[in-house]
Amino acid sequence: IRRIGVMTSGGDSPGMNAAIRAVVRACAYYHTECIGFYRGYQGMIEGDYMEMNARSVQNIITRGGTILKSARSKEFLTKEGRQKAADNLKKAEVDAMILIGGDGTFRGGKIFNEEHHIPIIGVPGTIDNDINGTNYTIGFDTALNTVVEAIDKIRDTASSHNRLFFIEVMGRDAGFIALNSGIGAGAEEILIPEENLGLDRLLDSLERSRRSGKTSSIVVVSEGDKIGKNVFELAEYVKENLPDYDAKVTVLGHIQRGGSPSCFDRVLASRLCVRAVELLLDGQKNLMVGFVNNRVEACSLDQALKSKHKINKDLLRISDILST
Ligand code: F6P
Repeated sequence: IRRIGVMTSGGDSPGMNAAIRAVVRACAYYHTECIGFYRGYQGMIEGDYMEMNARSVQNIITRGGTILKSARSKEFLTKEGRQKAADNLKKAEVDAMILIGGDGTFRGGKIFNEEHHIPIIGVPGTIDNDINGTNYTIGFDTALNTVVEAIDKIRDTASSHNRLFFIEVMGRDAGFIALNSGIGAGAEEILIPEENLGLDRLLDSLERSRRSGKTSSIVVVSEGDKIGKNVFELAEYVKENLPDYDAKVTVLGHIQRGGSPSCFDRVLASRLCVRAVELLLDGQKNLMVGFVNNRVEACSLDQALKSKHKINKDLLRISDILST
C-alpha cells in the first residue's frame, strides 16, 4: 500500500478531526502517502480531494466538525456513482480507503468493496453510538457532555418555575444518548426507542413524582422513541391529563453534533485511526476498528453491520431506582 485515502461521511461528530489527524500522522510516520476526500463519497465521485501531510492537520485535534466536510451522497447509492468513485480512486492512485462514519457509511463501503475490490477500513464516528463491534463511537462522549450541560441549564429554570420539561435528544432509532444523558442529568423519566414506556406509565410516574414532593421534572425523550406522540404532542397530552403540570418542550437539535471533542473522544479517535492505518499496511481489509472492553479490536464490516449495538437495559433500572 503506497497511498491511503481518508474521508468523513454521514452526520458529522466531534472527534472526526482528531480521527483525520491520526490517519494522516500515522501515514506520515509509516512513510505512506495520504489524501483526504471532501464531503465523503461525494468527493470520491467528483474527484475532490487534497494531498495531506503531517502539517495539514496541525491544530485540528481541538476542533469540532470535520475539515474534510461530510455529506450523505445520494449518487453513491447508484452503481454509476460508485463506478465514478472507483475511477477517481484509480486516477488518484489510491490503494485503500479509511472511512470515518456510521452504519450508512459502512454499508456503502461494503458494496463498494464488493464491486471494486478496494481495501477498506471503517472507523465508527457518530454521536448515536449505534454501531455493533464497538462500545463507543467517536463523538458520543462529547455529545453526552453537551446534552448534560444543556439539561443542567434547563433544570435551573425548571426548578425556579416548578415546571416539567420534555427534552428531545438525537440518536435516530437508538436510545444511547437519551439513556446516558438522562441518568447523567438526573432525569425523572427517559423515553427510548428500544423500550416503550407507554403513556399510562408515564402519567403514573409523573403523578407519583408530584405526590412525593417533587416540584419540577425533566423527561428526556429520544427522537426515535415509540410512545406514539412527538415531543410537543406529549407535552400537550400531559397537560390535558395532569393539569397541575406546567409542561414545556426543548428540542436540543444540532447543538449535539458540535463543539470541541472531549478528551475521551480525542483519545478514542487517535487509537482507532492509528490501528486502521496499521491494519491496512499489514494487508488487512474490510474491517471496522472498535473499542471493546478497553482494547482496540477489529471486526468484519459484516459484523459491524449485522445487528445494532444493544443498549444496556440495566441503565433503565438504575434510572428508575434513582428517580424515586
Ligand atoms: O446520525 C447522527 C444524527 O445526528 C442523528 O442523531 C440524527 O437523527 C440525524 O443525524 C440528523 O441528521 P441531519 O443532520 O441530516 O438532520
